[in-house]
Amino acid sequence: MTQATLLQQILDYANRADPYPLYAELRRTPVTRQEGGVYAVSTYWEITGLLHDPRISSDARNRAPQAGAGPLPVVPQEETDLPPSFIGLDPPEHDRLRRLAMRPFGPPHTPRRVHDMRAELTRTVSGLIDAFQGRSEVDIVDDFAYPFPVTVICRLLGVPREDEARFHIWAEAVVAALDPDPVEGAPDRARAARRARSELGLYLAGLAEERRRAPGDDLLSAMTSGHGPEERLSPVEVVTTAVLLLIAGHETTVNLIANGVLTLLRHPEELKRLRDEPGLAVPLVEELLRYEPPVQLLPQRTAVADIDIAGTTIPRGAPIWLVVASGSRDPRRFADPDRFLPERPDNQHLGFGGGVHYCFGAPLARLEAQIALTELARRLGEPRLVEDPPPYRRNPVLRGPRHLRVAFDTLAR
Ligand code: HEM
Repeated sequence: MTQATLLQQILDYANRADPYPLYAELRRTPVTRQEGGVYAVSTYWEITGLLHDPRISSDARNRAPQAGAGPLPVVPQEETDLPPSFIGLDPPEHDRLRRLAMRPFGPPHTPRRVHDMRAELTRTVSGLIDAFQGRSEVDIVDDFAYPFPVTVICRLLGVPREDEARFHIWAEAVVAALDPDPVEGAPDRARAARRARSELGLYLAGLAEERRRAPGDDLLSAMTSGHGPEERLSPVEVVTTAVLLLIAGHETTVNLIANGVLTLLRHPEELKRLRDEPGLAVPLVEELLRYEPPVQLLPQRTAVADIDIAGTTIPRGAPIWLVVASGSRDPRRFADPDRFLPERPDNQHLGFGGGVHYCFGAPLARLEAQIALTELARRLGEPRLVEDPPPYRRNPVLRGPRHLRVAFDTLAR
């Protein structure tokens, strides 16, 4: 089997339920040149090095025009008429925008923001589980793992929850373009994503204008009002940042929670332990981010200089895919990597990436998953999977079940 075939197999939907044996094969050569000139990096230390390396860029404008001409094209990162948001920019532009977006969300200016959301998150989770009353089976994705983070990010950003049906369609279209599989109508996806991102941007620009006139206690209001003449996001920067936060804030956590429920139901002894010792949720969520990460690969980097790594030279202009889910299962970094061990010591997984683009929402995502899994473990009596493996979403980048049917006998208060 050639390496190119291996990467195509990873993208193949038929392997979505268990891509891990394919990653193990990919790791035999830490850095490989694939069809289309893509360099796939699959081992922990090489990925970690590159995540911190200023010679790789996240800015699509650094991509060589011929890159991706082959059968495995480069993913259109942010196909849109709007300028890129900071996930698609390099320092120093990236750092300025990230710093301004962080002001109302975390340290140093708002260090308690996420911590203070605990009671509200718990109330939201309780309300969703209360609605299971009278049923013996639920779809954990549609009934719980999706509505929970959407409600949270809406409240945080200041987006009306009742508009979800409108922005969900746009968000889905944007996320679909992250799928690097070239056989599934990539140009159409990219066009649809560009249109959807513009529409979502227009919608959020309208809301930002409302918040400018009547500010509330939300991130859109804070980003719109700014903090002094030089420390202000421009109106377009507010929109690109809000688009990024809305999408990143709800298309990933859903998979962490659904992957978490699936993993716990496949490891009933750990589910029982979580029920008895809720404090286990903290290391357990870290292990989930290593063992079943919602973000499997980062296919959006470009070399801006020749890079010698693991016996290979990645040439300037080459697209790079960092297969973070493979790095987090690298036996050279983690003992017994294919076992789910919630109390694994020294668990520096790659689930939130690394370097300057390290996940902005990590503290919120962690808290959401900890509360969600603890409450489900506590309240569902005799839960069991109706279908294993469940049907998966198409996307190989943001991987998780499309539906997760769980049957149960009783519902605790
Ligand atoms: C389980 C849930 C989540 C996972 C697994 C996750 C994962 C990631 C990863 C791997 C990256 C790095 C991307 C790259 O290097 O190109 C990232 C970046 C980012 N995430 Fe998350 N994320 C999650 C939840 C969230 C939430 C809840 C928010 C917002 C509140 C968020 C906002 C962001 C933003 C804004 C970036 C870009 C950071 C930058 O470029 O500086 N994420 N996330």
